[in-house]
Amino acid sequence: MNSTRKLADQLAALHQTAQHLVGRLNDTDYRKQYHKDLSPLGWHYGHIVYIENIWLRERVLNQSLSAGDHQLYDPRNTVKHQRGQALPKQSTLLKQGEQQLEENIKLIKDSPAMLKQHPLLEKDYLLKFLIQHHAQHIETMRMILTQYHSSQNLTQQHAGLTQPTTVNQQPLLFERGDYWIGGRDNWSFDNELPRHRKKIERFAIDRQPVNNATYLGFIEAGAYQQSRYWDAAGWRWLQTTQVQAPNGWVCHKNGWVQATLDGHRPLQADAPVHGLCYFEAQAFARYANARLPHEHEWEVACSQLTQRGAVWEWCNNTLHPYPGFQHFPYKEYSTPWFDKEHYILRGGSRFSENYCQRASFRNFYQREKRHIFAGLRLAYST
Ligand code: AVJ
Ligand code: FE
Repeated sequence: MNSTRKLADQLAALHQTAQHLVGRLNDTDYRKQYHKDLSPLGWHYGHIVYIENIWLRERVLNQSLSAGDHQLYDPRNTVKHQRGQALPKQSTLLKQGEQQLEENIKLIKDSPAMLKQHPLLEKDYLLKFLIQHHAQHIETMRMILTQYHSSQNLTQQHAGLTQPTTVNQQPLLFERGDYWIGGRDNWSFDNELPRHRKKIERFAIDRQPVNNATYLGFIEAGAYQQSRYWDAAGWRWLQTTQVQAPNGWVCHKNGWVQATLDGHRPLQADAPVHGLCYFEAQAFARYANARLPHEHEWEVACSQLTQRGAVWEWCNNTLHPYPGFQHFPYKEYSTPWFDKEHYILRGGSRFSENYCQRASFRNFYQREKRHIFAGLRLAYST
C-alpha cells in the first residue's frame, strides 16, 4: 500500500476515535467544563475538524472557511469558559464534522498528485502533522472524560490498593559522552529539531517508572505533611492546594481507587502512578534519594526503558529551542512555550495514540498540572 493512502487511513481512524469519544457525553455535558484547564469535550472535536480544514482547505487549496469557525475553534479567539455555550447541537456538530472529514480523506486519497504540488505535502508532512495534532487532542478528550468521572460520586465499592511498598531502584548506568539528541525524520515537530550532538555527564536512570504501591508508601510516610521533601515552590504549591494524593485518587474502606475515563477503578499495585504534578514528582524523587531525569538523559536511555508509554514522565528541565531551531509549520506550536515555565514530559501515556511516543518527542506543561496522565521515573547522578 502506498504511504499516502496508509496515512489517510490512519487519519481517518483518528477521526473515528474522536467521534466516539464525543459521543460518550450527552448534549448537555459535552459543553461543560470539568477542569479549569480543559475545554468542553465537544470543542476538541470541532477544533480537530477546524485545524484539518485550515491546513488542507485554506492553506493548500485556497478555499476559505466560515468566520464562525475561526471565531469558535481558533483557541486565540475564545476563552475556554465561553466555548461550551457557543457549540452547536451535538448531533449537528457530529454530522457536519463527519461529512467534512470524510471529504478531506477522499481528497487525500483521490487527488494525491494535486496535493503533492504543495510544499507542505512533501513526503506527506502535513498528514503526519495532522495525525499527531489530532492524537494530542484525543488524549486531551480522555483527560476530560477522566475529570468528568472524577466529578461523579463513587458508585461501587471496589477492592482497591491497600499495601504500600518501599522504593525498588533498578538503575541503568550511562557513561559520560557525546550523544545524538533530536528527531530523525519528518514525523518530528519543530521543537525536536535540529538533531544534534550533546555532551551528557555520567548518570543512571531506573529501568521502570514509579508504581502505585511505591507511591502509596510515600503518602503513608507522611510526605504530604513534611516540608523536607519539597523545595520552596513545591511546598508553597502544597500549602495552597492542600493536595493529599494523586489526581483522581479516592480512598474508601476497601482501599484506593482512581478515576479513569470509564469510571473509578481499583488501583493496581504495579501499574505506573499517574496524576502527579511536577512538584509531587520532584518530592517523591527526593524521598527516594534520587532526582528527576533531564529530558536528554531520558532520550539517551529510551530504548532500554521498560513500561515506556504507560505514563508521561516529568523531567527536570523546561522546553527550550535546540541550537538552530526554526519554527515550523507555524510559530505557535512551540515558540510561545519557550517561557521557562513549561517543563518537559517524555514517553507518552497509555491514553496517548502511539504517534507521539517516539524517543525524541517533547511534551510540555506547567509544573502544577495534574490532569495530564503524568508520573515519573527516578534518575541519579553517580
Ligand atoms: C503539546 C500537548 C501541550 O495539546 O495544548 C495541540 C499540543 N498544540 N494543538 C496541547 C497542541 C496545538 C499541546 N501540547
Ligand atoms: Fe490544537
